[in-house]
Amino acid sequence: MHVTQDEKKRRAAEAAIEHIEAGAVIGLGSGTTVNLLIEILAGAKHRIEGAVASSQATEARLKEHRIPVVDLNHTGGLALYIDGADEATQHLQLIKGGGGALTREKIVAAASRRFLCIVDDSKLVDVLGRYPLPIEVLPMARSYVARELVKLGGQPQWRSGYITDNGNVILDVRSLSLLDPAKMEAEINHIAGVVSNGIFARRPADLLIIGTDAGVKTLS
Ligand code: 5RP
Repeated sequence: MHVTQDEKKRRAAEAAIEHIEAGAVIGLGSGTTVNLLIEILAGAKHRIEGAVASSQATEARLKEHRIPVVDLNHTGGLALYIDGADEATQHLQLIKGGGGALTREKIVAAASRRFLCIVDDSKLVDVLGRYPLPIEVLPMARSYVARELVKLGGQPQWRSGYITDNGNVILDVRSLSLLDPAKMEAEINHIAGVVSNGIFARRPADLLIIGTDAGVKTLS
């Protein structure tokens, strides 16, 4: 039986709950799938002691549900980070940042021992790159970085009017070849003015939970 994309996201979020150790402080990403997870956690607050938020939007949601928000500078390393993605491969490499929170998401993922990614099955791709790659850039470097991205084969578009939680801008880039995503991730990070990019290949997910019509499928 066919279910909606939202229902598939909810299935993935529900399955993630089983991976959360009781009483832990976890890292939480951003987006509609994570929002569903927060709603589920709100009904089971005893499961976690608190959460490190990867965006102001997630922080606001957590506070709305009276789930304690913890500063990453006070937690030390985290055992678990849970987040959605815009694209995911079978090798658990991701494109993230559709919601613009990629830099903080990358930081919390890097600070966590395990990264559990929750998606609906529309996000699965053979090769990354169908989804435009979000890149966070210092405002003064916007045009320079865009020209450098064109040299790499990309077609950057400024996400006009959007400012990240860190006060920067986003370039969404189409047409980059991401056959070797870890190499492109490093190459883009070397452009002066780039804060971070939405390829999660050097630190991929450890576990991918995919919501489908039939239930959930897990890749590790
Ligand atoms: C935000 C992200 C999100 O994880 C990504 O955009 C997926 O969002 P959603 O769960 O709404 O499909 O990277 O920066």
